[in-house]
Amino acid sequence: MEEKQVLKRVARLTQLATLPEVLSQILKIADDPESPLDDLAKVILKDISLTARILSVANSSRHGRDSEVSSIRDAIMVLGSRTVKAIALSVSVVNVINRLDTQVNLQTYWKHSLEVAMISELIASRVGLKEKEEAYIAGIFHDIGILSLDACFPREYARVWKDAQKGGSILDLEESIFGTNHCRVGSYLLSKWNLPEIFSHAISRHHDAFKSEEPVNDQIIPQIINLAEGLAKYRLDINSPLEDIELANRKVVMKNLGLDNADLSEIEAEIIPKFHDAASCLEIEVGSPMELLTEANSRLFEVYHEMQEMLDSFKKNANFKDHIEYDKLAVEILHTVVATFSHYFNNACASMLGRAQLIEIALKKGELEDNRDILHNSLIAIHNGVNNITGTISELKQVKSFKTTLYHDKTLIIDLEDSLKKYKPQKAKMKARV
Ligand SMILES: [Fe+2]
Ligand SMILES: [Fe+2]
Repeated sequence: MEEKQVLKRVARLTQLATLPEVLSQILKIADDPESPLDDLAKVILKDISLTARILSVANSSRHGRDSEVSSIRDAIMVLGSRTVKAIALSVSVVNVINRLDTQVNLQTYWKHSLEVAMISELIASRVGLKEKEEAYIAGIFHDIGILSLDACFPREYARVWKDAQKGGSILDLEESIFGTNHCRVGSYLLSKWNLPEIFSHAISRHHDAFKSEEPVNDQIIPQIINLAEGLAKYRLDINSPLEDIELANRKVVMKNLGLDNADLSEIEAEIIPKFHDAASCLEIEVGSPMELLTEANSRLFEVYHEMQEMLDSFKKNANFKDHIEYDKLAVEILHTVVATFSHYFNNACASMLGRAQLIEIALKKGELEDNRDILHNSLIAIHNGVNNITGTISELKQVKSFKTTLYHDKTLIIDLEDSLKKYKPQKAKMKARV
C-alpha cells in the first residue's frame, strides 16, 4: 500500500472525519488572549457533558481547593483557559475514539495514553515549559494513528499486532504493510482537524531517534513525548521490551532536556496516586486498583525478563575481561529481584503460619478432631514447606558471586542445589505423633 492511499482512507472514515463544532470554537477562543472569559464559558455551556467534566476536574483533588467550584466561569478562573482547553480536547478525543470500531483494547489504549500524557505534563513542568498543558494534550493524542489504521484496515492491522506480539517492531511492520506509520497517520489526522501544528509535529516525531543537542525550542514537546513513551509502565505493545536503540535515545533526550535519574523517579512516584483521579475525570475506563496492581506485578516480572535478556546478550558478546563485570551485574540484578519477591513470599509464608497456628490452638483445645493425624501431619508439612521457602530466599540473598555458584551450562538458570543441600531447614517444632 502507499501512504497517499492510506491517508485518503483515514480521511474518509466518518467517525474520524470531524471533531465536534464546540471544540473548534473553544480552541479559537482559548487561544485568543483578547477574548473575554464569558465567551469561553458560553461555548462550554453548550455542551452538557463537557461542562460536567470541566467542573469535575476543577473540583477534583488534583487541583485541591477548599471551596467548591460550581460555575464554569469559576472553573476557568481556577484552572486557567489553557487547562480548560486541554480538558475540552481530551474529552472530545475520548468521545471520538470510544465511538471507533476497533479491535484495539481501549482500556489498554487509554491506560497507555493517559500515562504518557501525565508523564509528559510532569516532565514539561520540570523543564520549566510554560505550555505544560500542550505536552499533556500531545500525550493524549500521540498514538491516535494506531487506532486510525486499525479502524480503517482491520485485517491488515491484525497482522501488525500478531507479528508485534512475536517481538517485531510496530513501526517497521506498519511501514512494510502501509508504506507509512502511526506517527505520520496521527499527525495527518490532527492537521486535518485543524489542531495547532505543535501537536501534529510532536506526534509525527514521537518515535524518532533524537540527536544530542537537538535544537530545543520547537523540538521540546516531541522529545518530552518520546521520553514519556519510554517511561510509561502501561504499554500498547506489552510483549516487546525496550530496544537498545530506545534506551540509547532515552539517555540523549534526558540530557537534552536536562533531566537526571532522580527527576525521573520523582515523576514516576507522582504519577501513581494521580492516575486514577485523572482517569475518572475523563471517564476513561482503566480498570480497578486491584487490576492495576496485578498488572504492575506482572510488569515487574517483565522487567526481570528484560534484565535477563540484557545479561544474556552481554554474556554472548563479552570477552574474557568482561567476565568480572558480568558477574557483578548479574549478582546485583539477582539481589534486586530477590529483595522484591521475598516481600511477597514472606507475606504468603506469614499468612500460612498464621493459619497453621490457629489449627494448632484448636487442636490443643480439643476443638478439632484429628483421630487419624491428618491435620497434625499437614501442619508438619506446612512448617517444612515454609522453612524451605525462607531457606531458599536466604540462600539466594547470600549469593556473592556466580563464579562460586554453579549455573547450568549455556543458560542463566541458577543452580542452587548444592548450597541448598547444605542448608539445614529448621525442623518443625511439632513432633509427629506415632
Ligand atoms: Fe505510545
Ligand atoms: Fe506510538
